[in-house]
Amino acid sequence: MSEIVTVSTRPFEGQAPGTSGLRKKVKVFQQPNYAENFIQSVFDVVSPDPGAVLVIGGDGRFHNRTVIQEAIRMAAANGYGKVLVGRGGILSTPAASHVIRKYKASGGLVLSASHNPGGPEEDFGIKYNIANGGPAPESVTGAIHARTQVIDRWLTVPGEDIDLETPGEYRVGGMTVSVIDPVADYADLMETLFDFDAIRSAVKGGFTMRFDAMSAVTGPYAHEILENRLGFARDTVVNGTPLEDFGGHHPDPNLIHAEQLYLAMMAPDAPDLGAASDGDGDRNLIIGRGRFITPSDSLAMLAANIECAPGYKGRLAGIARSMPTSAAADRVAEALGVPCFETPTGWKFFGNLLDAGKVTICGEESAGTGSDHVREKDGLWAVLLWLNILAVRKISVDELAREHWARFGRNYYARHDYEGVDKAGADALMDGLKAQLASLPGQSFGPLTVSVADSFSYTDPVDGSVSANQGIRVLFEGGSRVVFRLSGTGTHGATLRVYLENYTGPDGNLGAETGDMLAPQIAAAEAIAGIERHTGRTKPDVIT
Ligand code: G1P
Ligand code: ZN
Repeated sequence: MSEIVTVSTRPFEGQAPGTSGLRKKVKVFQQPNYAENFIQSVFDVVSPDPGAVLVIGGDGRFHNRTVIQEAIRMAAANGYGKVLVGRGGILSTPAASHVIRKYKASGGLVLSASHNPGGPEEDFGIKYNIANGGPAPESVTGAIHARTQVIDRWLTVPGEDIDLETPGEYRVGGMTVSVIDPVADYADLMETLFDFDAIRSAVKGGFTMRFDAMSAVTGPYAHEILENRLGFARDTVVNGTPLEDFGGHHPDPNLIHAEQLYLAMMAPDAPDLGAASDGDGDRNLIIGRGRFITPSDSLAMLAANIECAPGYKGRLAGIARSMPTSAAADRVAEALGVPCFETPTGWKFFGNLLDAGKVTICGEESAGTGSDHVREKDGLWAVLLWLNILAVRKISVDELAREHWARFGRNYYARHDYEGVDKAGADALMDGLKAQLASLPGQSFGPLTVSVADSFSYTDPVDGSVSANQGIRVLFEGGSRVVFRLSGTGTHGATLRVYLENYTGPDGNLGAETGDMLAPQIAAAEAIAGIERHTGRTKPDVIT
């Protein structure tokens, strides 16, 4: 047995892991004992069996390597038998999920702040995933938080940093550390799901794409899968080298932060498909030549065409979407005769449904789409499913979208974010909404009449757990709605999200501008919530 060192510590305030783990500024994480307290709290709560396997990986952002080296020594001191860590400390979030599952690990530490900027002045995060490969459920994150409030020591072993750049096996204390190729297992999994031959033929036939890795974690994955395995040209992947500060950008694949890609895709000589992924590789952006696909539509369109992919043929059990995600997927589920589940925001709610085999594909309006192949959303997976469908069906993104709307109708959709607003004002706005719930039904706002207004509460159909207070829904007659909720992932002040949706049936105006179609919903949202009164803001900071 090697020596275990006990380090005394005191609790920090505010180490409550939110829907996406513990996310704070790097400067906060750099305080002595800060990361260690959190990691030790995780280990104390999950109390690994002696010899258990732990996966560690991150999105390559600043501070990753420091925390990984510390976490490895702490894992050795806490009785783990083996740590699997990606070369360079790299593992995309979906790849980490896959590695946990494939190697039957007891769990994993995913070091990321997702799409938030990176660098010494920016954000960092630590999330614990459980043995099914998914984010820890609230029972576990709650226990971790409770533990952080009383922690008085953390455990480590003496030892040098290991060479994270060289794959192979290392010893740390009594434990083995295996530095693995971060890409290979994931790329192999993708080959089992999708028709790589059909995609390769399309590429040979002239199909082109541009994938923007946003200087984040998916670069190595995209180079290997798109260029090496599928035969796309060498310049298909742009910003393909992970950088500690993501080149100073927000690695968030939306029309604001991936504007270059968007502009390129709106040009007449655009490639057939444009796509991007976020800091840790779980989000995706899909743009055809001249046609942006909203994430809500993407979920619906992928579900409607999933039979094209060999790994999903004949086995669509159900679809799940988060509550704020548009109801486009609901119509597909209805047409296909499978159930559609509406869950609270955050990927962890899909985990139980996926584990129980109740759903096969799921997604969120925030550019997250995924399936039962892992227990995280998966950016490259969504891109590959799109590629698979387009290659098999031999149609363009725009044609596929138009065909879809002509069959199911179109859910015009946008999200308005008010960032860094005063917390008290944001809380007052939400309280004001709650106070009005009973009186809203029947009231009209311009052309819109409220049919139902509620505070969304979810009862998990698998374990019966209840998650209340998950956002305010105001549904209008005819299938339109506005939804209000406060972000659970912001790192300063409060972020108010207002989700706007206008459903237009197959016989309606399917080719209008989204902004025009949502004008009544925007006006109703202001009238109902008093956004300006409570936040002082006259317009959102970000529209996606
Ligand atoms: C945001 C998204 C949500 C997603 C989460 C983690 O959370 O809205 O859909 O699951 O990031 O990527 P929010 O800040 O809204 O709580
Ligand atoms: Zn992410």
